[in-house]
Parts: sequence; C-alpha cells; structure tokens
Amino acid sequence: MPDGSHIVDLRACTPGPVREILPLEARGLTYEAGGHRLIDDLSLRFEDSGLSAIIGPNGAGKSLLLRLLHGLIAPSGGEVLWRGQAADETIRLRQAMVFQRPVLLRRSVAGNLRYALRHGRNGAAGASVGSSVEAWLTRANLLHLADRPARLLSGGEQQRLALARALSRRPEVLFLDEPTASLDPTATLAIEELIGQARAEGTKVILVTHDLGQAKRLADEILFLHRGRVEARAPTEQFFSDPENDNAAAFLAGRLVF
Ligand SMILES: Nc1ncnc2c1ncn2[C@@H]1O[C@H](COP(=O)(O)OP(=O)(O)O)[C@@H](O)[C@H]1O
Ligand SMILES: [Mg+2]
Repeated sequence: MPDGSHIVDLRACTPGPVREILPLEARGLTYEAGGHRLIDDLSLRFEDSGLSAIIGPNGAGKSLLLRLLHGLIAPSGGEVLWRGQAADETIRLRQAMVFQRPVLLRRSVAGNLRYALRHGRNGAAGASVGSSVEAWLTRANLLHLADRPARLLSGGEQQRLALARALSRRPEVLFLDEPTASLDPTATLAIEELIGQARAEGTKVILVTHDLGQAKRLADEILFLHRGRVEARAPTEQFFSDPENDNAAAFLAGRLVF
C-alpha cells in the first residue's frame, strides 16, 4: 500500500518533459484485417496535456487505435501526424507505451531501469544514471526490490516497474493499454498514483481502460470508441452526466453494446 513511507524526492528524477511533438493527429485512419474494417476512417486530435481516457466495448478497436497512434502497426489508410509530421526517430523516442502485461527484460529490477535510462533520448551515462535509477525505483516504491530479477516480481510490482521505466525516459506522450486490468485495488492505486504524477508533470497521457471508475478518477476527457469510430468525446464530468450518444449511454448503463 502506498502509505507515504517511501519519501519521494521528485527533484532527483530528471525534470518533466517539454512538450514539442503535440498536437497528435489521426487523419482518416483505417485499419483492415481479415476482410474487416477494424478502425474506420477515424480522425481525432490531441492538442494539449492532461489525461484522455478511451473507453468502449470489447473489440471496439481501442488497442488497435493505441498501437496505430504509437506507431507499432501501420494503418491501411490515413495517417498519424505529430505536430503535422509523420513520426521519425526523434518523435518515437519522445513517446512511450505500457501494456496490460508488462514486457520486462530478463534483468534485475534496477537493470531494467538502467537499460531504459542509458538508451533513452537523454542517453545519460555513469553516475547520473545511477542516481536516476535510484530515484525512479523510490518513486515506484521498488527500491527494496532493486536486485530482484524483474520477472519474479508480482503483477503489480512488474507493472510499477514497467511504468517507471517508461516514465524515466520522460515521454511527452504516454500510451497506456489497460495498465491495471489484472491488478487488485491496492496495486491499481499505486499505478494510478504514478499515472497521476506523470500527468501533473505535463506528460500527455492516453489511457485505454475498461474500468469506468478509473476513467472518472483520472481522466480530463473521455473518448467513447465503438466499431472503430469515436462516437462521443467530452470532458469527463459532462460525459458521465450526459453522454449525448445512445451507444455511450447504453455502455455506461451497463447494457451490452455490440
Ligand atoms: N491482426 C488482426 N487481425 C484480425 N482481427 C484483428 C486483429 N487485431 C485485432 N483484431 C480484431 O479487431 C477488433 C478490435 O480489436 P482490439 O483493438 O484489440 O479491441 P479492444 O482493445 O477495443 O477490445 C477485435 O474484433 C479483434 O478481434
Ligand atoms: Mg484491448
């Protein structure tokens, strides 16, 4: 339980990002596979900081959309633009993604962070990497596990490490695909705290979640995705009080939406 017993010196972590790659835009994005149009002529724009939550039924295309925006998969049509440009190596180093199941290196907990810090865009070396590793482990409440093999951690600890590793590279944009889907409430709270800090420090967070409570707790705005299209988008309070879209309303009411 994060109880304040691990005092975090945020100044020891590298400073927050300067955002230079926003806005992020999708223009007429489509993704087709197996004869189906899974992302359907989707256009959207993320202008500024804050947390945008993407919700919607299973199979709506949330994970595909995130992968397309992050550049992990190529669209069948349309384009993803960062400040008007296609992604290049610089832009790729300024954004990060964390998945539902953390993908960790076969190294120690500290080793995973050290690797990220050495190979990130700031490419620091020597002593500064050492102090940064310690600061991030402290922030993620993992310092006591620094020498443990990362793959032997609990699910919640692995996800804290995956998130700390992503954040240590100071991404301007952070994509999160159901980062707490398999975690209990205590582990979820710890992850939500890390996400909240990143947001507060100016990272633009784009979070896919099936957890409506989480969307309410964290998001500045909600996007409702259905059948590969964004059917509703509104500031969080407004979205939950008046979704202005029949499918979104049905989804919020817990009815099955196909
Ligand atoms: N490579 C693929 N080939 C065929 N169908 C796919 C592929 N990837 C995803 N899909 C299908 O696309 C739809 C959207 O998938 P996904 O983005 O994972 O949904 P969500 O994350 O919203 O639950 C689903 O019906 C899924 O089965
Ligand atoms: Mg998904």
